[in-house]
This record gives sequence, C-alpha cells and structure tokens, in this order.
Amino acid sequence: MSDITPTPIAVLDFGSQFTHLITRRLRDAGIYCEIFPPSIDTNDLIARGARGVVMSGGPSSVYDHDRPRFNERILDLDLPILGICYGFQLMAHLLGGEVVPGHVKEFGRADLLVNGKSLLFDGLDPSQVVWMSHGDTVARLPPGFSRVASTADCPNAAAEATGAKRYGIQFHSEVAHTLHGGEILANFALKICGCAPVWNPRSSIDLIADYIRESVGDRNVFVLVSGGVDSTVLFLLLNRVLGQERVRGLSVDTGLLRPADVEFTKTFLDANGMDNCTFVDARNEFLSALDEVADPEQKRTIIGRLFLDVKDRALAEMQLDPQNWLLAQGTIYPDVITSGASANASVIKTHHNALPSLEGMEVLEPLRFLYKDEVRRLSSALGLPHEFTWKHPFPGPGIAVRIAGRITPSKISLYHVIDEIVLKSIRRSGWYERLWMGFPVLINMPESTTPDMGQPDATRDEVVARVNKRLDSATFDSVRVEASVLPIRSVGVKGDYRTYEHPVELRITTEGGSRYHVPHDILEALSTEIANRTSHVNRVLLAINWSGNPSAWRDIVVLRMLLSVDTLTADWAKLEHALLDEMATEIRAAGPSIDAVLLDITQKPPGTMEWE
Ligand code: XMP
Repeated sequence: MSDITPTPIAVLDFGSQFTHLITRRLRDAGIYCEIFPPSIDTNDLIARGARGVVMSGGPSSVYDHDRPRFNERILDLDLPILGICYGFQLMAHLLGGEVVPGHVKEFGRADLLVNGKSLLFDGLDPSQVVWMSHGDTVARLPPGFSRVASTADCPNAAAEATGAKRYGIQFHSEVAHTLHGGEILANFALKICGCAPVWNPRSSIDLIADYIRESVGDRNVFVLVSGGVDSTVLFLLLNRVLGQERVRGLSVDTGLLRPADVEFTKTFLDANGMDNCTFVDARNEFLSALDEVADPEQKRTIIGRLFLDVKDRALAEMQLDPQNWLLAQGTIYPDVITSGASANASVIKTHHNALPSLEGMEVLEPLRFLYKDEVRRLSSALGLPHEFTWKHPFPGPGIAVRIAGRITPSKISLYHVIDEIVLKSIRRSGWYERLWMGFPVLINMPESTTPDMGQPDATRDEVVARVNKRLDSATFDSVRVEASVLPIRSVGVKGDYRTYEHPVELRITTEGGSRYHVPHDILEALSTEIANRTSHVNRVLLAINWSGNPSAWRDIVVLRMLLSVDTLTADWAKLEHALLDEMATEIRAAGPSIDAVLLDITQKPPGTMEWE
C-alpha cells in the first residue's frame, strides 16, 4: 500500500477479532496506525516510520504448531512493544518467561488493581474494570520484567520491562468494556513511544487531498457513484480537490436501490451545482434480466455483469481516454486488510462492487486509509447532511438479495413499503445510528421452498428439546415451544466456507397463546447452540407476530438487525420487545399476504448479514 503519512504505530495482527478495534482506538487518540502481518520485515516497519509496535491478541496458544508466523527479529528492535493477550503471551514465551496452557478460560469483566507505577496507567485510577478473554496465562515473567497490575484470577495482568521497552497486558484494552482501555493505548503511543497526536479529520482531509493530487497528476478521474456514503464522499472530495472539470461521475439506477437514496444523490448534487454526474435509468433492463431467476448466486452474477455492461456503454459514450482518466473507487480500510482473521472473508459471496480495472484505467482508492467512522466524519466535513452521513451500508445487488426468490414489480413495491416501516421505527427509537444495518427480508414461502430438507422432524424435536432445556423449569411449565425447520434456504458462513442451509423458526408462547418474551441472553445462547449444532441448519428465527402454521405461510418477513465493527463478524441487536411488536404489527397490516414476521437471531458467523 502506498502511504499518505508515516505509520507511527504498527499493529501486528495475530488473528484477534478485535485487531481493528486497536487501530481505531489509537486513531481516535490522534495516532495514525495500520495493521500488518506479524511476519513483516523489520526494514518495512522502519521504512513506514514505526515508533512503536502493538502485538494483537489471537485465538492461538504459543504452544500451537500452526500459530501465526512471527518475525522474531521484531523483538530485537529498539522500539517500544506492547503485547495484548496472545501478543503478551508470545512476547513472554519468546523472551524467556513461562506461559501455562489454561484449561479454564477466564472470560468477561475483571477488577484490575494497578500496584506499580507505570506510564501505561499514567493518570488513571489504580483500580479499574477490564475485560478478559483468555485460556493461557503468563505464569512467570521473562527476566527484566516486573509486574504492574493484577486481577483476582490473573496475577500478571500487566507487566513491563522499561529498560528494554517491552510492555504486556493480559486484558483487552481495545474493547469498550475495558473502561480506560483507550487511555491505556494512548499512553503507550503518546507517553511511551513519544508519538504526537496529529491524526484528525482536518489533517486526514489534507493528507488525502495531497495523495489525490500526487496520484492524479494532470490527469482526470472517473467515479461510479452508488449513492452510498463512501462513493458519494469520494465524488465530493475529488470535485473539491481537482475541480469539476476534471471529474466525471456515473450513477446507475438499477431499480434495486432505495428510491429515496437515488433521489437524494440527484437533489444534493444539483443543489450544490455539480452537474458532472451522469444518471442512467436502467431499471427495466435489470428487471427483465432478473425475470424468473431465483438462485441468489445467479442473481448476483447477472446483476454484476449487467452493471458492467451498462457502465461500459455509458463510458463508451463519454469517450474517456484511459491514458488521461483514472478510475476512483470508494474502497475503505477494512476492505484492504486481508491478514489474520480476515484472510478468507471474500469467498463467501460474489461481491460485484470490487470492479476489475475498467478499460485499462488505472485505479485510485483515496479512502483506502480510512475506517467507516472516519469516512463519516469526512462526510460531515464536506457538508453532507447528518441523515446521509449515518446511512447504513447497502449491498451492491440491492434489494435483489433482500427479496428471496424471484423479483417482480409487485414484490418490489411491497418490499419498499415494509422497508420504510422498518427504517422509520429504528430511526424513531434511536437504534438507527447504533446499528450497522437494519432491514427486512421478504420471502415468498411456496416459491422459495426447496425439496432438500435433511430430517426435519428429528431436527425439530432436537430444537424443541434444546429450547426447553434452556428455559428454567419455573417458566417451562407455562410456556409452549413450537419449532420447525423451514423448507427455504439462506446463505451462511462456517469457518471459511459458504453454507446454503435451512432456518429454524421458533414460536414461543405463554399458556394463553400470546408471545412469551424470552430474555435476550437465553435467546443468544440458544441461537448459537441451534445454528452451530444442528445439521442442515444455519439460521435461527424468532417469530414475533404470526398466524396459522408455517406449512401454510405465504409471504414472511424476516427482520435483520445487526451490530458490527468490521463486517466480518456481527451480533444481532437486542431491540426492545415492544418495538419489535409495533414494527411487526405495522408490517403485517401493510400486506395481507404476510403471514409472519420473524426476528433473525443468528450471529455472523454462522449467518451472513444479508439473507442471500
Ligand atoms: P454479508 O452478507 O457478506 O455482508 O455478511 C457484509 C456486508 O457487505 C454488504 N454486502 C455487499 N456489498 N455488494 C456490496 O456492495 C455485494 O454484493 C454485497 N453483499 C453483501 C452487506 O450489506 C454488509 O454490509
């Protein structure tokens, strides 16, 4: 990656799902940092201007033969190094300490007592809450290290060798549950490594503007404007830096977008005097290409190909000379990092937005240095309204993957009505800005039914038994649990593999027949257990409002409400029961053919965020 600025802190990714949180916290503290593979050459670290190194956590044990490859010469560098969890264990192991494999895992909140003076904890309360998640522990510190903090279960919760500039913490400073975690990381970067807090929205705009000017030279830039935050910010930024005459935009209305989004882009650009974006209405073309197509991968492929065709035609009309025109894409930082946990993330579905180089055009990715929240700050700085700046990501194939099965104009109209209900409810209740995405999926049951069902009866009985076991015996007697394996399928991910399996639906009612509100923590445990341990099943749906039996359901609506930091993993959001009830009632009233509204309570993995 070509750099826009030195990288004072290098974060080595040992595969923790929290690695991106480390970099985000450091950036919030004003330190530009990036993620590198632990095998990185020391010369590369120095060349990137590293003044300190953070070794992330990870799922391995230092005793695993297949632990991530680490360039041990990094430990010889005369730079401060902070090891977090596995990073600390590895550092201790390699420097002569002793790590004991832990059979009992310490997981969750712990009270940390800082019992030494350390710059890591400078200015912080000596007693603080931290978040632990580990099996192995550092039982004996390496020579030269001294203990700085402990918890009841973990004597060496933090340790340091100030002369050698080596620091280690067993807890996860990067997660929000560690109350002063951001300050601990900032102390490392600012007070121990001596970095200056110079990364902020203002400086990032200036650095990216310089990067654009330098990469483009006296050429021009073409951009595909999808209506999402990233590509719109990119278009505005390019206009601002290069001037309208040197930038051309193209926006394709596939008919699979939210109508309000298409309208917004047009109106906003118009109001700001930008007439250098061409709008192509390709709705009919997309609709006829998708006629009678029900398979999700086929839909994605058709949409991807047609999109390229439409774009090629528009480009041919524009007659842009590839020698003089670059293609700018709105790729952001999490998309370009493929080390550790994210290595195989892209094989699950065909994403059509990563376009191959067009017509031999050189590709420019000015936002590749930024996290989503940094792009949102840029969006505000460029004058985009709050509601747009906080817009949820939207998949390239649009509602074609949110309407299961065949796409028809009447399904599209019904979908828009339901989508509006959902958006309005989550906006009004304050959930919109907390969610990564919130959207409905519309499924026509008879059309989507597949014959390959495994052993539904045995599976159903197993699921009911699991639910009953989780509900305590006091509630159990007065609660009725019904479940079935729905004869439809959705995409999921297990390990690095794509699955295309069945959802289990749960209907849990009181004796009187009304819905029983199972506490969220029980639902969470249940969904993980069911989706991971039941064969042929990759999703769990909780019925919110329904009538009749699943075998007679016509249309159903699945609500997908997600929290995520890096798109690779996601939690289902615990929306209040009353809010779910209200939404479901309104949705059912909107379409007489809708026989059930269900909440998708599947984490990613094993589900993906989208249904298809
Ligand atoms: P999944 O469903 O893979 O989604 O868990 C992760 C994120 O990616 C978005 N997504 C897409 N975005 N083209 C896109 O531009 C696509 O084909 C596509 N498929 C999924 C999804 O909305 C979520 O934010």
